[in-house]
Amino acid sequence: MITRRAVLLAGASAGVLALSPSASLGRASRSVDTLPADAPVRRLALSAREVDLPILGADKAVTKRFCAYDGMPFMTLRAPQGTRLMVDFKNDLPDPTTVHWHGIRVPNDSDGVAPITQKIIPPGGSFAYNVPLPDPGFYFFHPHCDETGQVGRGLVGLLLVDEPPERQVPFDLEHIIAVKDWRLGEDGQWLEMFTTEGASTAGTFGTVRAVNGLPTPPRRSAPANSDVRLRVIVADSTRVIDFGCDTDEAAVIAVDGQAIAPFTFDKVPHGIWRMGPAMRLDVHVRMPEAGKEVKVYDYRSAEPYLLTTLVATESGKARTDFVPKALPIATEVPMPDLDHAERLDFLVQTAAGATAIAAPLPADDPLSKALIDSMCVGSATFWAINRNSWGAGPDLRLPPPLSTLKDGQSYILSITNATKQPHPMHLHGHVFRVLSSSKKKTMPPYVADTVMTEPNETVEIAFKATSGNWVFHCHILEHMDSGLMGWFMVV
Ligand code: C2O
Ligand code: CU
Repeated sequence: MITRRAVLLAGASAGVLALSPSASLGRASRSVDTLPADAPVRRLALSAREVDLPILGADKAVTKRFCAYDGMPFMTLRAPQGTRLMVDFKNDLPDPTTVHWHGIRVPNDSDGVAPITQKIIPPGGSFAYNVPLPDPGFYFFHPHCDETGQVGRGLVGLLLVDEPPERQVPFDLEHIIAVKDWRLGEDGQWLEMFTTEGASTAGTFGTVRAVNGLPTPPRRSAPANSDVRLRVIVADSTRVIDFGCDTDEAAVIAVDGQAIAPFTFDKVPHGIWRMGPAMRLDVHVRMPEAGKEVKVYDYRSAEPYLLTTLVATESGKARTDFVPKALPIATEVPMPDLDHAERLDFLVQTAAGATAIAAPLPADDPLSKALIDSMCVGSATFWAINRNSWGAGPDLRLPPPLSTLKDGQSYILSITNATKQPHPMHLHGHVFRVLSSSKKKTMPPYVADTVMTEPNETVEIAFKATSGNWVFHCHILEHMDSGLMGWFMVV
């Protein structure tokens, strides 16, 4: 079946173009590079492939067809700010894929979104990504093609971008917490990732909770009274967590990799920071006295779910008052001019009655299957933004842009969630300011690339538009694969 799909894809690309009203893509936008041409270059080869892996432990069944970059779960890249990664990517999966560099201000043609910034990379194919790293922070990369299936089976890489040494803030320990469940049957093999029931509601959850891939939460030791930097990411397709810890000496120091004025957890409602899929958080934790522990939880679960235990060991460090460490604010990020910003309103809604089906094909038509692959989406439409759904199922048109924006112009997006589910909304190619929420009145100011919208909440974000075709979507992957994605054409 896989081979047949691959063959069809090769044959069907002309059909894709004929069916999508995407001729307008031709007049799109220049690709802006966010680093000077002489920036230091690091060349690297990256592949996506399937491996058989005992994910749940050496004594458990081997899971077949785990998807991983370079064959490693949570493969992690690390590079200095100002570096340009030239990534020679090879698709060794038996399915098409692309790579999206989440949160990184890449040139549009390296953004990895089929079909609007590149063609899908067929099995055996390759693609050269130009990934400048203009801003320090915690990012990640993942496919933008059958995301529900490929990310669900593990295809996520982490990317840490470090400030130059003279701007680095020292910590005694850095600990990554990657929250991602596995959706496995009793036999240790993958269950279906996209379900109609899940896609049309909160998403389909995994069956095994895990941190950093493992079902047992990590225990890390750090010297008593020392300073730990937690780097937290929700890499799950579905799960929303309420991040918090059982100590008063913990402060948020960055959101989505972007430094903010630190605040301790008592400054936010309920002492937690809600994180949907794709969101990151950097937290400064002061270790207690020797022998004591700090426990980090997801308090959203019925029983708080332990994410990590930090154990304080003996050390020569004397106890001092806890003062959260402020990271240097990245001045490179273009900030919107709120006095001259244009306002745009977006309604996140269910798709009932919202889509116009342009050229439906029977779902079992081979061309229809190939088209689904080339749009890299799911098999049904449940969601829309302003009555527009990204193509899915038999409705395989590329929708018109949500809006055509001007390069360099500032915009305020008001996003209203008119559904019963939370939607973490992500904008490609930009870092935005989160201005306000109709529900969280005491929110500290921050910048981000993904913002949570709760049912009946209106959130305002602002950004300065950069040339390119950029998608805007929910990061609950079944939602984006069933219509909850649109795009901006910035010219
Ligand atoms: Cu991580 Cu289109 O997103
Ligand atoms: Cu959603």
